[in-house]
Amino acid sequence: MEEKRFGRVRVIPGGGDSRFPACTALLVEDDIRTIIDPGCRKEKISEILGQGPVDRVINTHYHFDHIKNNYLFADSEIWLNYRESPCFKDVFNIARLGGIIEVYGEEKGRQWVEGLKECAITNARPTPFKDIRWLLSSGRLDGTYKWGDEIDFGHTRAKVLPAPGHSMGCSYFFFPEERIVYTADSDFTEFGPFYGGSDSDIDACVQSLVSLVDLEADYFITSHEAGILTLEELLDALPGYLDKVDERDVIVTERLRKGMSVDEIAREGVCYPKRALKDPFVFMWEKVHVKKHARRLVSTGAVQLEMESMSQILKDSEPLPLEQYGFDLSVESTGEKPAETTPLDFM
Ligand SMILES: [Fe+2]
Repeated sequence: MEEKRFGRVRVIPGGGDSRFPACTALLVEDDIRTIIDPGCRKEKISEILGQGPVDRVINTHYHFDHIKNNYLFADSEIWLNYRESPCFKDVFNIARLGGIIEVYGEEKGRQWVEGLKECAITNARPTPFKDIRWLLSSGRLDGTYKWGDEIDFGHTRAKVLPAPGHSMGCSYFFFPEERIVYTADSDFTEFGPFYGGSDSDIDACVQSLVSLVDLEADYFITSHEAGILTLEELLDALPGYLDKVDERDVIVTERLRKGMSVDEIAREGVCYPKRALKDPFVFMWEKVHVKKHARRLVSTGAVQLEMESMSQILKDSEPLPLEQYGFDLSVESTGEKPAETTPLDFM
């Protein structure tokens, strides 16, 4: 993808098709020079910083590919959505929202956080399981925003729109004057929608995707491979992208009917190829996706099993109780101050 400009908004491709863990960024060249999701190459960021100071970094959500380069902006304010703001006060909250605690337990979560201190910048593939940028780039929070806010850049304005489901606070940035939207990980890749975090939700994810259609926008700037879509291209891509959810439902249904457990279903691979599941993050995402599908299928009666098997599936697909940790999941929250979560006792 080529760099492109809409008014004062520059689209900065992530390099390598912006394939995870790269990500396309937006640079708003205005009075308050702002970069949104700086997941592009380090050399590009040096170039941007060489052209002038960046006042503000805004992350649409806390996922690695969107925040990994925050640490390069030592003199900029760092902003994250209010709902996920605890992630930038204690990295253990990333382990909670991301799925580490849900899949591997608290002790492993503690070890992950402790282990990060010994890590380097690895650029490891396929996932950044061990990369110190989790710590470097989540260590500071200077501002939060909430859905419905209007962000002022000087001459340019963007409206923050809700995009939950992918992560609990994920947000779209809609520029009404330029008629563009930054759609973050509503990205229309072959993989389909991602809702493999403890804070993800299948139905909310679908709803967020469908909400794009109603926006008065001409261009939809995705974070990854698909690049920039016109409205026509978006309408074309959306059904196939949403079909992935149904396809996963079909696979999970078949396996539930065969009497497989949630864990067994995940180990066979539903969203990811089985060979990729050796990576702890990939397996974690797979397992959380499967849990959400299995729970939804069984609890809505779409799949009917013996009573004993049903209760076992419901038990094995229990979500992590994020409210109990203090995360604010209410849609009405004012976001006036960052949410307070239970601190982790590291002993
Ligand atoms: Fe993401």
